[in-house]
Amino acid sequence: MKQIKNICCIGAGYVGGPTMAVIAQKCPEINVTVVDINDERIKQWNNENLEDLPIYEPGLKEVVSDARGRNLFFSTDIDKAIEDSEMIFMSVNTPTKTYGKGKGMAADLKYVELSARRIAEVAKDDKIVVEKSTLPVRTAEAVRSILDNVGSGVNFQILSNPEFLAEGTAINDLLYGDRVLIGGDHSTPEGQAAMDALTDIYAHWMPREKLLQTNVWSSELSKLTANAFLAQRVSSINAMSEVCEKTGADVEEISRAVGSDSRVGPKFLNSSVGFGGSCFQKDILNLVYICRSMGMDEVADYWEQVIIMNDYQKKRFADKIINTLYNTVAEKKITFLGWAFKKDTNDTRETAAMYVANHLMEDHANIHAYDPKVAPRQMYEDLNYLGTRSEEENKALLNVEKDPYEATEDAHAVAILTEWDEFKDYDWQKIYDNMKKPAFVFDGRNILDVEKLNAIGFKLYQIGKSDS
Ligand code: NAD
Ligand code: UGA
Repeated sequence: MKQIKNICCIGAGYVGGPTMAVIAQKCPEINVTVVDINDERIKQWNNENLEDLPIYEPGLKEVVSDARGRNLFFSTDIDKAIEDSEMIFMSVNTPTKTYGKGKGMAADLKYVELSARRIAEVAKDDKIVVEKSTLPVRTAEAVRSILDNVGSGVNFQILSNPEFLAEGTAINDLLYGDRVLIGGDHSTPEGQAAMDALTDIYAHWMPREKLLQTNVWSSELSKLTANAFLAQRVSSINAMSEVCEKTGADVEEISRAVGSDSRVGPKFLNSSVGFGGSCFQKDILNLVYICRSMGMDEVADYWEQVIIMNDYQKKRFADKIINTLYNTVAEKKITFLGWAFKKDTNDTRETAAMYVANHLMEDHANIHAYDPKVAPRQMYEDLNYLGTRSEEENKALLNVEKDPYEATEDAHAVAILTEWDEFKDYDWQKIYDNMKKPAFVFDGRNILDVEKLNAIGFKLYQIGKSDS
């Protein structure tokens, strides 16, 4: 196997951008080129002003500034990058299919297929192709079939190297992740050499014992399993949050009690308005689809319940707002603090906020939303994507605010949708003074200081707790 001197990554998104930036920073002897069909995105990655990168992640601009122009490049010249590289990552999006067979369930692999075809057409010498996108188990078979059937005589090794980073902590996760999975073909010397080449790249900064080599199918399926397990924990604690509200138990005390058991562990037991993000729902739906297509209905039903519970939690939160505000929110100003699917990211894909807003807007609420990182355009796009009403109607019912104090002025209720730290430190007395009374706060993330808010006079609802 040739030494890896040039890497290319197809897809300059939330995964491709940060992952390649870290590889470039840690492997200064390797040229890393990130390519994308989206010209605007590449321009943003090349922006002089590091505040204007297309993705917000703590620590990202420092890593990009270290490596960009030295051995990290962003380009739209996909063919050249493929030609020049010994190793090619595919980090394109794999959203849920919105059409045809498997609509609403299966992963849409058209971008993966297009990338594989491009590689097959352009490659003139042997390449290692790395699946970085999250893919259904056995996708590598389809990728191999595309690559091998072009007949160019080029040999391809296909590896699966799923990404486990979480948004908001991407750089930290990339630098100090729990493990890296490298799935490949142990049975041939070429397959083993390809796995070793990728292992050596990660070994620049990760301890060897965290670099796990597996077979390709285990690697692909481990990624779906990991996301399914994490999402299942959130749905499990959210299921208990309703039991807590009805019985007087406190969900945070339940999380602490259960999470103290070392067999369970404390992480991912924060009850919330529901999980969002581009992957949990998409990956579970994909797993459910695979199981159903293979006749495993009981397994499919089991995992589907995680999604059903999550949808229920979002709706339950919205209903709580409507019920508390005397059974209608029509023409009432409801202020959303937070729109991103979690703090420290500007990503809004599948954010609980858009579903809660949509539900309240069905009841003719006027939503005023403030988020420290999400662009106004994005919030409208999210609502339009749901397709519940026309763009004009969404525009009329959603007001995007630039200042949290203006956003909450004359509001009937404030709802916390994202756990941004800054919300905790607001002048809540000032917010209270300017709101309509009774002043309701619905804390969908359980981040606010209950005693302080109660003392001010707010009527506070928290997830998984009795009303105060
Ligand atoms: P993204 O939408 O942010 O980025 C994907 C990029 O690929 C886009 O910029 C798109 O223009 C580009 N692209 C699509 N087709 C292309 C083609 N044929 N040629 C060149 N560029 C093309 O997606 P993402 O969030 O980075 O996710 C990528 C994959 O990684 C998905 O499979 C996802 O499930 C997985 N993943 C995501 C995360 C996350 O936190 N976002 C974490 C782990 C794994
Ligand atoms: C998740 C996984 O954590 C990553 O390991 C994985 O790589 C990634 O999906 C992916 O495949 O895309 P991410 O979606 O970025 O990462 O963020 P998480 O921190 O997992 O949060 C997901 C959602 O669950 C958020 O809406 C978050 O607010 C919610 N959540 C998380 C809770 O409601 N409670 C918790 O205790 C934890």
